[in-house]
Amino acid sequence: MSVRLRPMTPADLPAVLAIERASFSAPWSERLFAEELERTAIDRAWIVAERDGAIIGYGGLMVLGPEAHVMNLAVVESARGSGVARELALELMAIAVARGARRLTLEVRERNAAARRLYESLGFTQAGTRPGYYADTGEDALIMWTGELTPAHVSAMRAADAGTDLVLAIETSCDETAAAVMRGGRELLSSVVATQVDFHARFGGVVPEIASRKHTEAIVGVAEEALARAGVSLGDLDALAVTRGPGLIGALVVGVAYAKGLALATGLPLVGVNHLEGHIFANRLADPELEAPLLALLVSGGHTAIVHVPEWGRYEVLGQTLDDAAGEAFDKVAKVLGLGYPGGPAIARLAGEGDPAAVDFPRAMMRSGDYDFSLSGLKTAVITYVDRERRAGRDVRLPDVAASFQAAVVDVQIAKTVRAALERGVEWVCLAGGVAANAALREGLRAELAEHGIRLSVPPFDLCTDNAAMIAAAAHFRLRRGGFLGLEAEATASLPLD
Ligand code: KG4
Ligand code: ZN
Repeated sequence: MSVRLRPMTPADLPAVLAIERASFSAPWSERLFAEELERTAIDRAWIVAERDGAIIGYGGLMVLGPEAHVMNLAVVESARGSGVARELALELMAIAVARGARRLTLEVRERNAAARRLYESLGFTQAGTRPGYYADTGEDALIMWTGELTPAHVSAMRAADAGTDLVLAIETSCDETAAAVMRGGRELLSSVVATQVDFHARFGGVVPEIASRKHTEAIVGVAEEALARAGVSLGDLDALAVTRGPGLIGALVVGVAYAKGLALATGLPLVGVNHLEGHIFANRLADPELEAPLLALLVSGGHTAIVHVPEWGRYEVLGQTLDDAAGEAFDKVAKVLGLGYPGGPAIARLAGEGDPAAVDFPRAMMRSGDYDFSLSGLKTAVITYVDRERRAGRDVRLPDVAASFQAAVVDVQIAKTVRAALERGVEWVCLAGGVAANAALREGLRAELAEHGIRLSVPPFDLCTDNAAMIAAAAHFRLRRGGFLGLEAEATASLPLD
């Protein structure tokens, strides 16, 4: 049954008062509501939500120049948890910005967890407290507020709720300049990735200064290409999204500055995305069924972590590498073996022809009882092994070394991930980050998890390594939660996931 929102009238007051009295320990009086309604032409707005002709909720707002204050919002008990409160709040936000307000504020009882969750899910953050504000219980009031909002911000949030939001996402955290256009967080209209790998390969790794310069050269063309391939123009978009961290700072700032420039020029709202959250969201593009709670094994060039995701948007890092990241280990070992950069794909290819049991490399921290990893010792072990064999005049079979190294990395990752999945009792595990492209890891993990009835989700191959489609998918989620970046926001090299 659909919900209709409309302005409150004096005839609604009996129904409104019944909900008010059932909802609050210190309810407003009828006179107070009547006085409020008299001010709607001046600085107030009061609305009701109606279903089947019955009033099931209401909300009110005071507009004070650039600021609007949510004064009251309640929903009848039987309609709680059905999204009516969210619709009322979004309507109040829309009214506020239409009347010229640029920020919303409100007070909420400290112990009213449902209300806090609602407002947090709309982008409100805590700005302070009023100690003992509520006379009836002596409870503190939390003061919450939004960031800068325009009508475009609120309509983008509503488009995201409706699943129609059209987003252009930008990613420049490392050595790929990427842009993608996506509708509703799932329908990928275009994804363009300009890789700089050739410029870094001769140095055997990413050179930050080169990355930064190449992003600057490529970003405009890549973004225009993404729009052209999607067949949309800037004017069609609901929002822009950009990776704000973690990553190479000089690389991140190019994307962030470009996205802020576009936002300023077009008036489009800008959403900031955590690169690691993007990698996790890549899985949703392949597996629409994937649902939290889940466990993610995040394995990229810069990160290696086991992350518990009790619900989308909440991340609990259970363990991580104490030294090198998994991708970094692949890259460093590939360099030693003379396989070039990036090393992951080269080692994986060579490993396919080798014997994973040929050399018994160490499985560091396999039995440490925690979810941490250590990979730098393995790299040293490979170097020592190759040196010793060569010095002894023996022929080093590179495919065997590659396969044995890969098995050592993958074995520990599989063992710890399966243990964490069992401990947390999740139904789903997902692989995220560039190393998720590794077939031995995918297949080994899938087989082990299957024995315990746990499902594995892996991103499509082309969305394992850095891309903007995954940033757009995460942006859809962040957009619904009012996760906007102001134009003063900056790129952050070490942005934590949790
Ligand atoms: O996620 P990503 O593109 O960049 C970061 O956010 O770090 O990951 C890149 C890393 C590189 O270290 C690369 O060697 C590794 O992912 N990689 C692989 C494979 N494909 C890429 N590692 C192992 N096997 C692969 N097939
Ligand atoms: Zn990445």
